[in-house]
Parts: sequence; C-alpha cells; structure tokens
Amino acid sequence: MANDRPESYTLDMTKKNTLFKPWLANIQQRVEEKLDAHLHFEQPDLVIEAMRYSTLGGGKRLRSALIYAIAEAFNKPYESVDDFACAIEMIHAYSLIHDDLPAMDDDDLRRGKPSCHKQFDEATAILAGDALQTRAFEILAESKHLSADVALHAIKTLAHNAGAQGMILGQSIDLQSENKSINIEELTRLHTCKTGALFGASANLASYEGTLPPQRWGLMTFALELGLAFQIQDDILDVTQDSETLGKPQGSDAEANKSTFVTLLGLKKAQQAQKETYQKAMDALDSFSAPGNTHYLKALAEWLIQRTH
Ligand code: IPE
Ligand code: IPE
Ligand code: MG
Ligand code: MG
Ligand code: MG
Repeated sequence: MANDRPESYTLDMTKKNTLFKPWLANIQQRVEEKLDAHLHFEQPDLVIEAMRYSTLGGGKRLRSALIYAIAEAFNKPYESVDDFACAIEMIHAYSLIHDDLPAMDDDDLRRGKPSCHKQFDEATAILAGDALQTRAFEILAESKHLSADVALHAIKTLAHNAGAQGMILGQSIDLQSENKSINIEELTRLHTCKTGALFGASANLASYEGTLPPQRWGLMTFALELGLAFQIQDDILDVTQDSETLGKPQGSDAEANKSTFVTLLGLKKAQQAQKETYQKAMDALDSFSAPGNTHYLKALAEWLIQRTH
C-alpha cells in the first residue's frame, strides 16, 4: 500500500463522492508544494518569475490527479510518482503559455489572471514556456525517486507524447484548421493529439515499473478516451460558461473560427459525443481489475465531465 497516504483518504465506496473532493484538494496542495520546490533557481531572473507565475497558484491539476489515482490503483507510493506529476504539469503549463500567445489563440486571460505574455511580455512568455519544458525533463533526469530505467522511460515517453507526433501535432492541426471545416474524424484526431496525448503520457508514466502492467490496454484506452471527453467538455464550456467562471476568455474558439465539437456538431450533439466518449472511458476502466483501488479513477472521470471550468 502507498505508505504516505493519510488514513482518511483510503476510499470507502459508500463515501466515494464525499471523499473525492478532499483527496483532490490534498493532491492539489501536494503538487503545488513539489512544483514550488522545483522552481527555485540559484540565479534570479525575470523568466523564472514568469515560469512561477504561470505554473503556481492555479490550475485544476487533473493530469496530476490522474497520476495519483493510478498510483492508488496499482498500490504505488505517492513519492514514486511525484516527479511525473511535476514534469507533466510543467509541460502542460508551458503549452498553455504558448497556446495563449498572439500567434496562437491570442487569449489574454488564463487561470483567472492575465496570460503570461500580458503580465510580462511576449518574449518573456516564450522563454518561460521553453524553460518549463526543459525543466520538466531535468526533473525526471535528476529524480531521487526514480531508477535510471524508469527515468529514461519517462523522458522518452513524455518527449514523444508532448512532441511532433503528440501534443504539438494536435496544436499544429488545430491552427491549420482555423477558418476551414474539417470532418469529425480529423477533429477527433486533433483533440486526441493536443489533449489526449498528455493524459496518455500520465497513465503510461504512472503505471510503468520496468514494463507496463498487463492492464495497459484498458488503462491507456481509459486515459485517451478521458482526455478526449475532457477536450470535448472544454469546447462545450467555451460556449456555455462565462469568462469569470472559466478563468479564460469565453468564446475564444468562435472568435478564432476554430474547428471544435460544438462548431462541427452543434451543442446538443457535442454533449452526446462527450457522453459516449466518457462511457467508452468507463468501459475501458471496467475491462480490467487492478491490485489497488480504482474508485479514484472513476470519481476523477465523473468530476472531469461535470466540471464547469
Ligand atoms: C486547459 O487544460 C487546456 C486544455 C487542454 C483544454 P486544463 O483545463 O486542465 O487547465 P488548468 O490546468 O486547469 O488551468
Ligand atoms: C489547448 O487547447 C491545448 C494545449 C494547450 C495543448 P485549447 O486552446 O482549447 O485550450 P484553452 O481553451 O485555451 O484552455
Ligand atoms: Mg488552442
Ligand atoms: Mg487556447
Ligand atoms: Mg479550449
């Protein structure tokens, strides 16, 4: 069993929903502290300020929550996955800084605050994103909690999933799909790359122990479908919520003439597609049994699709 888990967070199925929120709050606080510690450098600099501004004090930390929920399912101590969570959060934070730049989505609000390039300037925001990306790999390479084999696997997997065949490919197709209509298969591929890839990487890293577990097919399918459902929800929230609730500009997709599930299918069908994708994720989760507790994975999936921001 995970040896650093507060007793009260051992999930009792009858109290599933009431216990998920405090568990998540505990994960969010844990990740905040670890990220903070990883973002201290000897030489102070404006770019470091910008890295800390965009990484700390906000964000739902749901990719981290996926990692710790998998640790629960496979009975892994939380310290063995802390550095995965920090590396993924840094890659995610960098992707958001660059995503908001004028050359990309041109959004001025992120996590309820001015976007990095508004708070600082464009050049500083570009550099902060670059440095968060390299710091993520440095954390994995110098980790005290990972064997050389596990660290190398994590670096390789994260580089692949965040790179030209993963998240970046998704971002590239996203930008090329502005002002033109693509079909639903292309959009699904776009979303699976730009958002699913980091969910898949989270599941891969958190479950690897020299090899991936025998449950890997179900687990990866769960993570990818969940990532897709999450991004469809993001498209839906862009039209159904206000900027204050979202903490980012409402209507950004429509303004940029983006291809999204809502612009392609309309709101109702997008909601239906999201439900079906969520169901595929839950079916994948039900298709395997894990040695530990999978209730956090279930509760996380439910929370992800019910979220309002
Ligand atoms: C926003 O991700 C970008 C998408 C992939 C939709 P999140 O909604 O997880 O952003 P934070 O980390 O909570 O701000
Ligand atoms: C962003 O997708 C995905 C990545 C940053 C990789 P969006 O552009 O839809 O995210 P938001 O809506 O700005 O958070
Ligand atoms: Mg974008
Ligand atoms: Mg955006
Ligand atoms: Mg969006």
